[in-house]
Amino acid sequence: MALFIGVDVGTSAVKLVLINEMGRPLETVTKDYDNLSPQPGWREQEPEIWFANILAGMKELLDPGDASKVEGIGVTGQMHTTVVLDAKGQSIRPAIMWNDTRTHALVSRVKTEVDKDNETKKLKNIISTGSPAVNLLWLKENEKENFRRVKTMLIAKDYIVYRLTGVMSTDYCDASTSALFDFDRQQWSAKMQAMIGIDHILPEIKSSAAIAGSLKEELASMLGMRKNVKVVVGTGDNPAATISAGGIDIDYPVISLGTSGVICVPCKQANFSGRAKNILFSIADDTVINLLQGVVQASASCNKWLMENVLATHDYAGEQRKINYDELGKNDVMFFPHLTGDKLVFADTLIRGAFLGLGIHTERRHLTQAVLEGVAFAFRDVVEVLRSMGIEFKRAKIVGGGAQSELWLQILASVLHITLDKLNISSGPAYGAGILALYGCGYCNSIEEVVDKQVVVAQTIQPNEQLHSLYEEKYSVYKRIYPALKAIFPG
Ligand code: XUL
Repeated sequence: MALFIGVDVGTSAVKLVLINEMGRPLETVTKDYDNLSPQPGWREQEPEIWFANILAGMKELLDPGDASKVEGIGVTGQMHTTVVLDAKGQSIRPAIMWNDTRTHALVSRVKTEVDKDNETKKLKNIISTGSPAVNLLWLKENEKENFRRVKTMLIAKDYIVYRLTGVMSTDYCDASTSALFDFDRQQWSAKMQAMIGIDHILPEIKSSAAIAGSLKEELASMLGMRKNVKVVVGTGDNPAATISAGGIDIDYPVISLGTSGVICVPCKQANFSGRAKNILFSIADDTVINLLQGVVQASASCNKWLMENVLATHDYAGEQRKINYDELGKNDVMFFPHLTGDKLVFADTLIRGAFLGLGIHTERRHLTQAVLEGVAFAFRDVVEVLRSMGIEFKRAKIVGGGAQSELWLQILASVLHITLDKLNISSGPAYGAGILALYGCGYCNSIEEVVDKQVVVAQTIQPNEQLHSLYEEKYSVYKRIYPALKAIFPG
């Protein structure tokens, strides 16, 4: 039976999953790495570390008999993360990551500039710190010698596809979220390239299940794979996560309660009426659909921060068992979860988190509860942004590490007042990338044909009406937190 590998170049680890030709996940391997932070607000990674960990991870993933059965590889990864290569195809400096905020001062300048033209105006909402366009401008103004040497810019997953095959490409997701894309013509924007001052450094845009190339022979023989293993173009981690949660269904959004929180709503058309980000996505034949995305930058990471950094425990479930169910919605303590700034609702990358309402009787369970509730309120803010753009939904699929907590799902369903469908498997973006490879290699007629057999709803969580009313009141208080904090910590 043919095997496929999905690879996710994540923020803190590379994740690999082995799947068979039925789309069933068989094995996973995770290899952790660090972020470099040479200056406050900077986040960098050496692309070579991703690649070395992927090769080591593949060796671990494959039993001796399995390597020769691998037919295809799909790669996904952190979106926006910008890799610059010289004329020899070598990385010039560490990659500037999606969560790097060094370009804070440049963002408003670029937004003012794009606003002057009808074509580029559409990009105003998607430009933020971490946008590849702004990263390149930063490079031009701050590292002139490095900028002069740039021959190609690739996003994280594209760099890995390039290292595996020798071929440079990107997909519609990473192109359309680069702030260098012309949404009307669905191609790189000549105007944006001129504005940033770049020329011919952007790779060809292809559909995500298109074959980018074959695995290099020396890598295939090192890994014990046969010749001609196909590597597909791949996509960013959020579309890949959407695939991994079952087929892409219009009007059936996917919420990811992961390190960062994401609401991804598949839509028929791009929508520029509000702050949610349009991600174009094409599986095959350049047929492009739109995923409208809203992000809560620090989501399950807030819970991890409280558990591990503050309460010094790994027993997340044990801490949540201390929470009194009849105190839900009545907590005096509130938590503002934007520990790493916010790119969507407030577009304020300098804002930080806060606990409010601490009293002499506050116990650790109140803090735990406040964090779960505060993250749910931040998701509610994203739902309000989507609502302002005409997007309403009453049901969503839920994936991500935080979805393991039933309590958190009950809180979230009640705060958002929607039904949440928890899935039987939550393999994440790497699984979605593996499915793209399976499809791209011709082993199924559609993504849905495979995924919908493997990924089914395991549990449905309904909102609790009484809790919803309590949370409505709390949410009106929560909404007053940002203006108050902003006055204390002006950016
Ligand atoms: C999406 C975004 C993050 C990264 C995380 O726009 O920046 O979700 O893709 O890897």
